[in-house]
Amino acid sequence: MKTNLTRAASLLAFSALFGSSALQAQQFVNEIPIPPAMTGPNYLISIESGSHNFDPNGFITTFNLNVPLATYCYNEQGSSAMSYLGPTLVINEGDSAHFEIENNLPNLDSTTVHWHGLNIPAEMDGGPHQVIENGDTWQPKFRMIDLPQTAWYHTHLMGRTTDQVILGLAGMLLVKDPTAPIESQLPNDYGFNDFPIIIQEKGFLLDTFTNTATAIKAGEHPGNGPQTLVNGVVGGYLRVPPEMVRLRILNGSPRKQFNIGLSTQLNDPTNFAQMHMIATGGGYLPNPIIVDSTMISVGDRREFMIDFSLYANGDTVYLSNLDVPLGANYGTTDGEALMAFIVWDSIFPPNPIVTVPASINPSYALAPGPIFQSREKHLNGQGGMTPGGGGGQGPWLIDSTGMDMMVINDTVLVNTKESWKIVNNTNKSHPFHIHKVQFQVTEYHGKYGAGNDSMDFTFANLPPEMVGFKDVQMVREHATMTFVARFDSFPSLFQPNMGYMYHCHILTHEDMDMMHQFVVIDSLDFYTAMISMPETEKLIAYPNPATNSVAFTGDYQDQGMLRIYDLTGRFIREYEINGNLTDYTINVQEVPRGMFVLEYTSGQKRYVQKISLQ
Ligand code: C2O
Ligand code: CU
Ligand code: CU
Repeated sequence: MKTNLTRAASLLAFSALFGSSALQAQQFVNEIPIPPAMTGPNYLISIESGSHNFDPNGFITTFNLNVPLATYCYNEQGSSAMSYLGPTLVINEGDSAHFEIENNLPNLDSTTVHWHGLNIPAEMDGGPHQVIENGDTWQPKFRMIDLPQTAWYHTHLMGRTTDQVILGLAGMLLVKDPTAPIESQLPNDYGFNDFPIIIQEKGFLLDTFTNTATAIKAGEHPGNGPQTLVNGVVGGYLRVPPEMVRLRILNGSPRKQFNIGLSTQLNDPTNFAQMHMIATGGGYLPNPIIVDSTMISVGDRREFMIDFSLYANGDTVYLSNLDVPLGANYGTTDGEALMAFIVWDSIFPPNPIVTVPASINPSYALAPGPIFQSREKHLNGQGGMTPGGGGGQGPWLIDSTGMDMMVINDTVLVNTKESWKIVNNTNKSHPFHIHKVQFQVTEYHGKYGAGNDSMDFTFANLPPEMVGFKDVQMVREHATMTFVARFDSFPSLFQPNMGYMYHCHILTHEDMDMMHQFVVIDSLDFYTAMISMPETEKLIAYPNPATNSVAFTGDYQDQGMLRIYDLTGRFIREYEINGNLTDYTINVQEVPRGMFVLEYTSGQKRYVQKISLQ
């Protein structure tokens, strides 16, 4: 772990110098903490409880938030640097990372640690299956095969992700490649010109009797707020050098989308500073894109270069949240400033950067290879109303079903490229997230971003919000998004506990119940895997081999789905059975010839057979 003594010492001088004289900046009174960077190859981490003051200098005047509140956090074992959130984990591309993660949470609480954005083996992914029981140590290890990017890590405990993220279980993870020539042209001095900015909305439960916030509230109706935290403080300011500065912005909120812009105007800005977008969560863009403002949905990350040399020493530039329409969000948004950057000429990055490179990642292209399989997923459900009137308690569903830890919803053949179409049938926006892969949007129809215009986009004309490799993309109410992704490396057994998740990243939706899982398998295993599932019974289809039609004998429950897969797990066709299967004859003339797997699912029962079509 590294700390920056130079910077800490010079910051003391700043306080003495400016004191209360910087009038506007006075409104932003809490210095934004920079989580310590932690480097490998061994990462010894304790998940523990903390006591955190979200407002040490009294930014909030309506109630007293200047009190220590009970939190959860990640720390390097033996350190107490963090009392909320976690250190920034830095892993170099190509390196092996070994973790020893101790669950020292109070109240016998269990948890998981998910590496959001990384392509790693399923059993290391830290999803709902990899529970770390209280008192236990989890030891995942993986080799970093991903490109440089800003990823993050957070709890993913089944049904409890919202609670635990709100308490503090999230942190940033940087994949780096120090040897890449482009890196010397980008700000890379962590804490000097390269800053993690973790934005989170949070409610606090106000005790009206003592006028103090006594607990962090995870519910629909935050007692006072929502307030917006940056790296765990409200009303935060950050001093930046008068040079090019890199901001790695993560929306680590439970529910809220942020449409951010930079301006010297406090609140409701109209004159925006140029933000040079250089990377998405999945890595570098081919060229920087200049934006005034951009939507960053829950779970998403974006990297920007900002030219602070355009300002004078002591100037304040605010990061504001601009209007977001209600269908795209929870609660209204009003142009409020979230934090302040104060330009300060006494910060000296070891490697200062003064220009934005014209090109960053010229080899960026659409993922190669033919589309092996296409899927379509419908987001549906209502999101019930809570007694107080706020929506969003769920259940929210995918294809009308919720998450079942024992069900494999999709089987993907390793090292293939797929196309997924996400159809939002609801009145709310859902930031769609998928584990393991970085996808590329190839089509989008409907409202997008923070606007109300309905648009049609293809890969060639994507708006800045959708370009690049992504693992989260907001699909607005009634909009449709199609992406392609390669599911490379790390095949596993055909078992539900080898599942990678895909879900809405609004945490209350993920918890209730808009999540499914897929397994990535090797082709040789598909049929064996299908029949080795515990609840499988033998389907009796005849004739076998068949040519034009297939019929069935045996004892089946009424109503179900008959599906045909090829031996690599590729879905070929499905037939709805609205009666007894033995009364049906399936026409298979349109199915190509070869070996296939027939699967009949009815209620809790599942029947499988291999069949040859000639
Ligand atoms: Cu950020 Cu399934 O997670
Ligand atoms: Cu994830
Ligand atoms: Cu959602």
